[in-house]
Amino acid sequence: MPPTAPILRNYEPVVIGPQKPSSSELSPIQEEILRLKKEQNAVILAHNYQIEPIQRIADYVGDSLGLAYKAAETDADTILFCGVHFMAETAKIVNPGKTVLLPDLEAGCSLSDSCPPEDLRAFKEKHPELYVVAYINCSAGVKALSDVICTSGNAVKIVEQVPADKEILFVPDQNLGQWVARQTDRKIHLWPGSCYVHVLFTVQAIEELQDQYPDAPLVAHPECTEAVRDIADEVCSTEKMIGFCRDHPAREFIVITESGMLHRLHREVPEKTFIAGPTENCACNDCRYMKMNTIEKVRDALQKKQPEIQLDEEIRQAAYQPIKRMLDWSR
Ligand code: 13P
Ligand code: SF4
Repeated sequence: MPPTAPILRNYEPVVIGPQKPSSSELSPIQEEILRLKKEQNAVILAHNYQIEPIQRIADYVGDSLGLAYKAAETDADTILFCGVHFMAETAKIVNPGKTVLLPDLEAGCSLSDSCPPEDLRAFKEKHPELYVVAYINCSAGVKALSDVICTSGNAVKIVEQVPADKEILFVPDQNLGQWVARQTDRKIHLWPGSCYVHVLFTVQAIEELQDQYPDAPLVAHPECTEAVRDIADEVCSTEKMIGFCRDHPAREFIVITESGMLHRLHREVPEKTFIAGPTENCACNDCRYMKMNTIEKVRDALQKKQPEIQLDEEIRQAAYQPIKRMLDWSR
């Protein structure tokens, strides 16, 4: 049999490390955002996947769990949420009296889209006995139909607290749900949803990158497929990646998640080097929804006080209960 030809991948991996010192200077537009923020008693919450100029001016940068806590605790009048729609919606659910702004209302999420509320309602009618655990990456309509919410940072802890006599329906991410199922003895039914970014990482492309960086541990998000999770040294939420990379003796890490994570890692662990995980044909790994937020849109949102998240009050109240349960259970 002839030897298999090597696959020619047309990318250079994105690498951020000590050779790229962080600049401390702010641009005029970033200065303007900070001025508007103060004027309006606003707080800027940003997810780890946001572009670096947005992360730099945020009051808090974190994962979905940390952002949910910050949103619940803030005493600001306005929350400018730099993330995707379901995250800003969660902030509004826990803060009905506040103005919640999202720089681009079109910033959605493929996972959230994979579980429309009407489909979940129909499924529940056929299986009313199931206890619904919903990953926070879902719409307010889905949250309103759920028993408890979880994030990738607390999913195992939440599932372990579901009443022992209940079988669980985990929505919408089959990969996160499967990862949780492997760590608990609970019977879990999986909704067939997935994140279009995380399922693009392949074992073959990662192994080729490991040939270039043989000493770099692999840290992966649980939204990746099982095949990828199985070769990772650590599987965890974006926030836990910081602690893992800081505490591990290695100097270089391959990071299997959305590329924005590298900025946060670089700021928090500046002495180490981070290599963006590869997908089949590129190493960009940008979530097109997360990247809809630009620094100009952040400024415009504060200036115009829109786009604003609006929610039907009945849905908001129903969606609040499972979020509150999550916040209580994960303390
Ligand atoms: P985290 O909960 O780890 O922040 O992940 C959110 C997300 O959207 C991952 O794709
Ligand atoms: Fe949704 Fe995936 Fe983007 Fe996260 S990375 S916001 S799960 S599409």
